[in-house]
Amino acid sequence: MKQRLFVVILLSLSLFSFNPDKEPKRQLNPAIEAKITDLLAKMTLDEKMGQLNQYTSRWEMTGPAPQGTSNQQMLDMIKSGMVGSMLNVTGVDATRKAQKLAVENSRLKIPMIFGYDVIHGYETMFPIPLAEAASWEPELARKSARIAAIETSASGIQWTFAPMVDVARDARWGRFMEGSGEDPYLGSLFAAARVKGFQGDDLSASNTIAACVKHFAAYGFIEAGRDYNTVDISESTLRNVVLPPFKAATDAGALTFMNAFNEIGGIPSTVNSHLLRDILKGEWNFNGFVVSDWNSIGELLIHGVAADKKEAAKLAINAGSDMDMEGNCYVPNLKKLVEEGSVDVKQIDDAVRRVLRVKYLLGLFDDPYKYCDENREKTLILNKENLAASREAAKRSIVLLKNEGQLLPLKKDGQKIALIGELAADKDVPLGSWRAKAIPGSAVSLLEGMKNAVAQPANITYAKGPVYVSGKSLFTVQLEFNTTDRTEIAEAVQVAKSADVVVMALGENCFQTGEGRCQTDIKLKGLQQELLEAVYAANKNVVVVLMNGRPLDISWMAKNVPSIVEAWHLGSEAGNAIADVLFGDYNPAGKLPASFPRTVGQVPIYYNHKSSGRPFDGEGNVFWSHYTDAPNDALFPFGYGLSYTTFDYSDLKISSSTISRGEKLQVSVTVKNTGKVAGEDVVQLYIRDLIGSITRPVKELKCFEKISLKSGESKVVHFTLAENDLAFWGADNQFKAEPGDFKLWIGPNSVDGLETSFKLK
Ligand code: BGC
Repeated sequence: MKQRLFVVILLSLSLFSFNPDKEPKRQLNPAIEAKITDLLAKMTLDEKMGQLNQYTSRWEMTGPAPQGTSNQQMLDMIKSGMVGSMLNVTGVDATRKAQKLAVENSRLKIPMIFGYDVIHGYETMFPIPLAEAASWEPELARKSARIAAIETSASGIQWTFAPMVDVARDARWGRFMEGSGEDPYLGSLFAAARVKGFQGDDLSASNTIAACVKHFAAYGFIEAGRDYNTVDISESTLRNVVLPPFKAATDAGALTFMNAFNEIGGIPSTVNSHLLRDILKGEWNFNGFVVSDWNSIGELLIHGVAADKKEAAKLAINAGSDMDMEGNCYVPNLKKLVEEGSVDVKQIDDAVRRVLRVKYLLGLFDDPYKYCDENREKTLILNKENLAASREAAKRSIVLLKNEGQLLPLKKDGQKIALIGELAADKDVPLGSWRAKAIPGSAVSLLEGMKNAVAQPANITYAKGPVYVSGKSLFTVQLEFNTTDRTEIAEAVQVAKSADVVVMALGENCFQTGEGRCQTDIKLKGLQQELLEAVYAANKNVVVVLMNGRPLDISWMAKNVPSIVEAWHLGSEAGNAIADVLFGDYNPAGKLPASFPRTVGQVPIYYNHKSSGRPFDGEGNVFWSHYTDAPNDALFPFGYGLSYTTFDYSDLKISSSTISRGEKLQVSVTVKNTGKVAGEDVVQLYIRDLIGSITRPVKELKCFEKISLKSGESKVVHFTLAENDLAFWGADNQFKAEPGDFKLWIGPNSVDGLETSFKLK
């Protein structure tokens, strides 16, 4: 798949030119704008405030329980047009009933918009977003999002709070699983693809939904990897690392944005007018609306920037936050604020216009019940086709980290296989965190997937091993991992001894990851490491299948165990997809979207770091940037992943050693499949800008192409680098390429590859 073209279309005109005059003006539909003007003229200030108010259903919640509004009050408010939107109302029946309340009772009959967190599937679960990014196939993510949109819309909902596009560098953060990893370029492609998938080509169709790009901004940079914590980053990091995926999502047409919970440099994102007004609505000409995160306007009091909810409402609306999610700040206060003159009614009108615009674009005014169709709900959700797509996405998201002595692929016949670990038979964990309407326990387990694949299921013997989490609930603040009950280790060792090969499922429970699930430690929890070492002592032919939602410290495993398969939380068809890889029906081609540290002490770790004045090259004296107890580099670097075949890279060519402004550099490399089976590889191009007005990363991914080669086949892969591809937000606060020398690498990951150099005049 050609990524260059995608990039040129989505990013080149935009990422690097934030001058509003140069921005493509986003087209407004004059007919819709005229209707909004008419409607606004009829609306009272109260009704306007209502459009900016969002409540959760009281029967399903994704944040702290609402305070201050009873069920009855909420229903009355909907009837009087004081609720513009609801979240967590799901299903045709419920959304129709709620919509009726608004449309049949309120004076102006303005329909509500229903939102829900559809992060990696609605009922058919796809791989968690981090996993899907490991496919390095944005098109795959577009398709998953498309199917998720079809299911979501068939359930009466028109809006998802996704994609989450936060660049993440700290594996302690529970929400690492929700994004596309550490790279702004890869993240931009996935952000745009997911928006396209959710929104489709025709927003007014009944099977497309509005995307909500979140969390704006820099949520992935929270201190100490602890959720909701403080962020303090520079404008340069904001512009060069954090914002590109948000910009790409805007250019892909995203209709809505969500604030981040965090502050940046003392300013909570919910009231950050630099982000919301200067950049998003100013420079980027974003015409949609911004919703707060759950009570993030109310939390301004706790942050300590507003004395009361009234002040919070004033700060938020003035900064450009259009809709109040569960904060109960706008409705009680905006009218007073306008009357007092602290909020200009024009700000309210602008916010309301944005909300109404999205409702018009979705076709809700034409038919408020157009998403409510029982027949679609019955036939389009969790059907065979969707499950097949999920399996395809899942197998393409798997990363082969190690395969010494070609222990993999396994044989389908004539091999006695021991399958060990609680996670191997688990039908729930693969569904992942943020699982929308997934049916608990509905995933294909690894045990089932392997038994489905082999000729004689009896050749697979399963041993559970020790219980992993011993706490009663996974929704407690502190999880209780079993560190004492070793009774089942002995049985696992016995099973391992009598097998030819051992497959061990290890990693994380899915609720160890996600919102509010941060950790200080990223090693295997419970008795998993002990189990691994005991089994390995009994049988060296161990294949570890990792199930996890964040980069883990697997140093011991990487050193000792011959084969490691990174299988994340892969969704409904996880077990079948992993079996496809284990038995060689599919040759794995995933690449890590984030560096795997050697130890938690290395985080935040990312390949595109800066040089520093004292970079360490593995030698030299003590006064170089290094640790005295661990290397600097990652255990498995960004972009890394193996295949059952091997690839050789040769003949790196560039069209010229010097290019002038406006000229393009043509780059090519020959890749040959030197192994015995067909396979795919992701050919990656990185650059380094050696001298800049500000320091530049030691490597930056600029393009890639996933290619497929038969055994013995070669292909010349071509890339084009334009001046814009070299641009960055520099010391003069502008996006532009600076003249000078560049290094360029092409290789199979961010560390290995062929090198050349060129100059921009
Ligand atoms: C999360 C958001 C989510 C919202 C609504 C918040 O706690 O940060 O990502 O969309 O809840 O469920």
